[in-house]
Amino acid sequence: MSEVNTIDQLLDEMWKDYIKLNPGAQKIVELFEARGDKVINDHIALRTFNLKKVGIDALAKPFLASGYVESGEYHFEEKKLYAKHFQHPDKTKPKIFISELLVEKFSDKLQATVKKIVEQIPAENIEKFDFTCSGRSWEVASSTYEELYAESEYAAWLSAIGYRPNHFTVFVNELESFKSLEELNEALKSAGFALNDSGGEIKGSADVYLEQSSTKADKITVNFSDKEMTIPSCYFEFAKRYPQENGELYQGFVAKSADKIFESTNR
Ligand code: NI
Repeated sequence: MSEVNTIDQLLDEMWKDYIKLNPGAQKIVELFEARGDKVINDHIALRTFNLKKVGIDALAKPFLASGYVESGEYHFEEKKLYAKHFQHPDKTKPKIFISELLVEKFSDKLQATVKKIVEQIPAENIEKFDFTCSGRSWEVASSTYEELYAESEYAAWLSAIGYRPNHFTVFVNELESFKSLEELNEALKSAGFALNDSGGEIKGSADVYLEQSSTKADKITVNFSDKEMTIPSCYFEFAKRYPQENGELYQGFVAKSADKIFESTNR
């Protein structure tokens, strides 16, 4: 990987890394562009564990150093996650949504596995500007993946995929050729893309100022320490934002909707 020093380089590297895991996203961008639409990225989502070494604060560093500001926090009771989102004064830059697994809320076994994984990450890797697309620097067995999956899909995903963007998100308001998110979903399905329909294809509504849909995650073959296995990788999300009473588009997230969106990486 070439040297990554600026936020624009980092965002670019994250996209390149992401489409390796989810080539469908590039195809969808091409599909929209062929309709004459301009694709703007609403947000990038990152996953981590709430251990100090790799928690939200650690992952947020390059973004905070580049002018991003903490702009909201969220609790996901069912998934046992906590998240924050960060915004940049330059509105053309995507929001960064970072969630962390509340490790202490899981079994002793999961906690021990996660600690072992995090211990293997060299501290200097985390300090690197492009840690958020650095992948996996630890060994994991397929049986460990399965054990984690039984308790938390999120933990299993992170153990196998590592530090790479979980999803990018198209800002639907800027797509002029689609009148609604429904219309966009229909176009995607006609083009052969499967959507996450957990809790309905569209999560949220104008009442909560945010509607979202997403593809089902693409699949990749991962080299576990004992064998290769094909697992869900990343998905593409679509967000339509609505104006609040003050006339400004809502820029936050809706925990209840995101809870179901997280399931886009379920098997
Ligand atoms: Ni999202």
